[in-house]
Order: sequence, then C-alpha cells, then structure tokens
Amino acid sequence: MVYTRNVSNSVVWVGGSDRRLALFENLFPIPRGVSYNSYMILDEKTALLDTVDSSIALQFIENVRATLGDRPLDYLIVNHMEPDHCATIEMLLPYYPNLKIVGNQKTFQMIQQFYDFDVDKHALVVKEGDALELGEHTLRFYTAPMVHWPEVMVSYEEKEKILFSADAFGTFGAVDGALFDDEVNFDKDWLVDARRYYGNIVGKYGPQVQAALKKLSGLDIATICPLHGPVWRSDLGYLLNKYDLWSRYEPEEKAVAICYASMYGNTENAANLLANSLAEAGVKNIAMHDVSSTHVSDLIAEVFRCSHLVLAAPTYNNGIYPAMYNFLHDMEALQLRNRTVGLIQNGTWNPASGKLMRAELESMKDMRILEPVVTLKSSLKADSKEQLEALKDAIVASL
Ligand code: FEO
Repeated sequence: MVYTRNVSNSVVWVGGSDRRLALFENLFPIPRGVSYNSYMILDEKTALLDTVDSSIALQFIENVRATLGDRPLDYLIVNHMEPDHCATIEMLLPYYPNLKIVGNQKTFQMIQQFYDFDVDKHALVVKEGDALELGEHTLRFYTAPMVHWPEVMVSYEEKEKILFSADAFGTFGAVDGALFDDEVNFDKDWLVDARRYYGNIVGKYGPQVQAALKKLSGLDIATICPLHGPVWRSDLGYLLNKYDLWSRYEPEEKAVAICYASMYGNTENAANLLANSLAEAGVKNIAMHDVSSTHVSDLIAEVFRCSHLVLAAPTYNNGIYPAMYNFLHDMEALQLRNRTVGLIQNGTWNPASGKLMRAELESMKDMRILEPVVTLKSSLKADSKEQLEALKDAIVASL
C-alpha cells in the first residue's frame, strides 16, 4: 500500500524504511533501522531526487507511481551513487523510458560501473552551479565531494528554499511516521544515532564537510531534505551547529569517556576507581564503555561527543589488547583528533600497552596525552592507586 508524506504542496517524500537490516554497510548495527529518503517535485516537469536501497524497492516504485499518477517522470537527479540510494535506478526505466538522469561526470562514471543499461541515452550531465528549470521550481546543483563519496552533489530548490543534502545531515533510524524534526524529540531519540552515523560514515571527511558548509552558507535554506532520517524544517541551527562541531573535530561536551578493556576484571577495577574519584572530584559527565562488548561505532561516536578519553587496556601478546587496538585503528582511519587522553596499562610480566597506545595516539593530530600513564602489574596496588589519583587530578585540571 502506498505511503508518502508531503514536504510541501509540490514536494513529496516517496522513500521508506528498512527495519530488518541488522548491519548498515554490513558493518554498523542499526537496531532502530534506517530510512532511505527519496523526494518527488511535481511541477510542469517532474523530478525525483535519488532512489532507494533495493530492500524497499517495491514500496518505492509503488510510491513513485502513485505520486505521479499518469504523468511521466521527466528527471531523476542522482545526488549520490552509493547503492543505498542508487540501487533502484534501472527499475524506473520500464515505467519511464524517456527519463533523463541528471548527474555530474563522476556520477555517470559510477552509473556505468554499477549498471549495464544504455546510460548515455538517458544522461544529462551537469556541473557546479548549473540549474534545471522544472516550471516554477528550479534546482541548482553544487558539488560536495567526499560527503561522502567523490561524486556527491547537493541540489538546492530555489522557490521553496529546500536543500536536498544527500548523506549530509542524515542519521541512522527508521522513520516511524514522524518525518519532520518538529514531529520528533531529536535530542532525546535521534541524536545518539545521528552522531554515530556522522562519526562513522562521514567522520573522516571533516575538511570536506567544512568546505561544503562554507559553500552552502550563502544559500537561504528553509528545509533540509537528507537521504536518511528526519527532514529539517524547524530548528536547522541545531543540526548545523552539530555538523560544524563534528567536522571541526571539536567535542560537543566537556565529558570523560572511560573506554576500558579487561580480561579478568583488574583493569576494569582501575577504570571504576578512576570513575569514582572523578565523580567525587565533582566531574558530572562520565561514561564508561567496555570495548569488548561495545560496538566500535558507538565508541567512535563517543569520541565525537567527549572532550576527554581514558583508554585502559591490558598488554596482550606483547601488543595492545585486540578490541582496544581495533578502536584505536578506527580512530586513526577516521582521522580523529583534538582530544585529551589518559592512559592506563596493565601487564603481568611486561606492561607495554601504554607505550603502544601512546604511539597510536601520537600518529593522530592534536591528541594531548596526560601524565602519568598509570601502570598496573596484574592488579591495583598502593603505587598504582597513587598514579590513578594523579591521573584523576590531571583530568580534573584539564577539564
Ligand atoms: Fe547513504 Fe553514502 O550513502
């Protein structure tokens, strides 16, 4: 059965949600599902902005056909060629054989790579700043490379001041009827997923996001229509502020995330003791995460949120405990930077994880490592408790 929602009298959301997929990109857990947004503009000409993942193809085609009625689809604008948005392009062609597909040169390289149909027959190549007249509506195209792939562009509709923003401003989470930011409690119900989506999907490309924000800052934007999650029509400043912080790698909060690995509870014991003494010293915003049981995408999101990290890990095979190493490797791959970090190492005969974690952090930009690095030999003793107290003092002083 068709379900769509009007963004305005002429713009219709024709996307859908997948609540069955366990892992987005076969990597990231999405217990709240994910939406694939697609938008139709109805004017003298009709234009569809992006398609959807194959998982919701039947619903999507039904939505598109019902929204158009007996009208043809004149244009498909392809803002992004990742398959969660481009997988159903070819399915439109039997219904709309005269469809013009609008994209830039890189878009069409990718369409040729993903598809075998006669792309040239349908192609309308645009470049930075080009416009497409639909009647009363005009779409103007701006490239936004690496937000999140190199071909990405965003489309700005000038009459209604709508930015079709591709992956930017998107989030994990299915759309449960409520499509607009003023219909949900975003801060309570969506922000954690939005941060995790940004950090893990787009997080590596902070400078490119900053470039896109700068490019778009001259536009008068009333509504943001992303490819995932709610449509923004009320509190755009809230999300723009988050994107500005995240893409500059500035922490959102003065907060301490204690991320620990512990094989038999001794390193966890030190982490707990540190958390207690931080709380007793008046630190309000403390979060603890066992890196063995917390998905690394959640840990990455915490790095985007918190000003301070404490990494506590045993030495394992003369290296860093694997779950912690994986976390550090992900931080490095995403080019995370600009945090204050405390370290706790443990080792029964040759504690080395502190030195090795330090080396990983020193390969990232602007990571400030606090002294002392706390050393446990097997379990907490009086001397390591003293070091822990000194680390607590260093954290409090730097908050
Ligand atoms: Fe939602 Fe980069 O795809």
